[in-house]
Amino acid sequence: MPHAAITAVGHFLPDERLTNADLEKMVDTNDEWIRTRTGIVERRILDEDKATSYMASRAAQEALDKRGVTADEVDLIIVATVTPDMLFPATACLVQDAIGASNAWGFDLSAACSGFLFALSTGASFITSGRYDKVLVIGADKMSAIIDYTDRNTCILFGDAAGAVLLEPDTDGYGLLDAHEHVDGSHDQLLCMPGGGSKMPASHESVEAHAHFLKQEGRAVFKYAVEGMAGVAEEVMEANDLTGDDVAYLVPHQANLRIIDATARRMGVGRDKVMINIDRYGNTTAATIPLCLHDWESELKRGDNLILAAFGGGFTWGASYVKWAYDGADVARTNLAEVSASLG
Ligand code: UT7
Repeated sequence: MPHAAITAVGHFLPDERLTNADLEKMVDTNDEWIRTRTGIVERRILDEDKATSYMASRAAQEALDKRGVTADEVDLIIVATVTPDMLFPATACLVQDAIGASNAWGFDLSAACSGFLFALSTGASFITSGRYDKVLVIGADKMSAIIDYTDRNTCILFGDAAGAVLLEPDTDGYGLLDAHEHVDGSHDQLLCMPGGGSKMPASHESVEAHAHFLKQEGRAVFKYAVEGMAGVAEEVMEANDLTGDDVAYLVPHQANLRIIDATARRMGVGRDKVMINIDRYGNTTAATIPLCLHDWESELKRGDNLILAAFGGGFTWGASYVKWAYDGADVARTNLAEVSASLG
């Protein structure tokens, strides 16, 4: 049975930056509080007239270009997102059209900040079953579309971005070797967007109540997030007889630097082996993990053991064990302008 190996990584980041100084002018907050409580310095914000599929398509196209794979070779597209362009059709359909993946089908997967890990595990099963050779797994969120920029509890946390990986079969022992996933729906109110679904369709009242924005009980979620992310990372390490020394990198969801540090401590992994870019992008929900893989790609070596871990709304949480399949230093940097040009 083949494993599903990540054979290419792509990303998209909007140009516009929203800094802590900018937020100081919008709500009652300050740079020092944001840095010390979260680790965030700035985030990226997508143009108002663009949506999640715009970022997802560009991240996907970059991954394909790097690998020299054409869009018509792709079998399946999974987009992890909580900010789809529309409730339906699925963002995966819009990505399929934008990149011209004429032989692919696809669907969206909704698992908030754990979305990329759940999509990775789902996509991998289509590879290990022998059914497909090329699966695109994308994590993309335009969080600025569902953030209330009058709520200081949440507006300082989130940014917009997309990351994508290409999965292909590997028979040499590289790729996704294990994945542990959990959900617990009993805390749905602690982190959610109450409006816009079938429970509370849009109305004058729902708009006035700011119900179409993300709501979070930060302190309560923090407690569950530390236990969930650190616990599941430990779980996947134990299941695979890994110690901190065996791990080349922890690739954590970027919600809060303190949650990341707690997870690394529990795993026995030093800060030098933790991918951290929350300072530059904030919490980009489903995009954080592939964005880390992109930023660290040139450092990654064939055979590196990576532990990917996430916790998010649902609650959802999970961790994956990936044996990295290629030397990142060999990957030619693609020209992002060319990627964008090819998509028109
Ligand atoms: O990604 C999906 C999962 N989500 C997470 O993992 C997020 C988990 N939660 C967190 O990361 C943290 O709880 C936050 C960063 C959201 C908040 O940090 P905290 O240390 O838990 O702060 P807090 O909510 O307990 O608030 C402490 C104080 C409060 O004031 P009082 O009541 O002590 O007077 C808040 O009103 O800080 C106040 N506060 C702020 N002050 C300045 C809250 N937001 C701000 C702000 N600027 N932006």
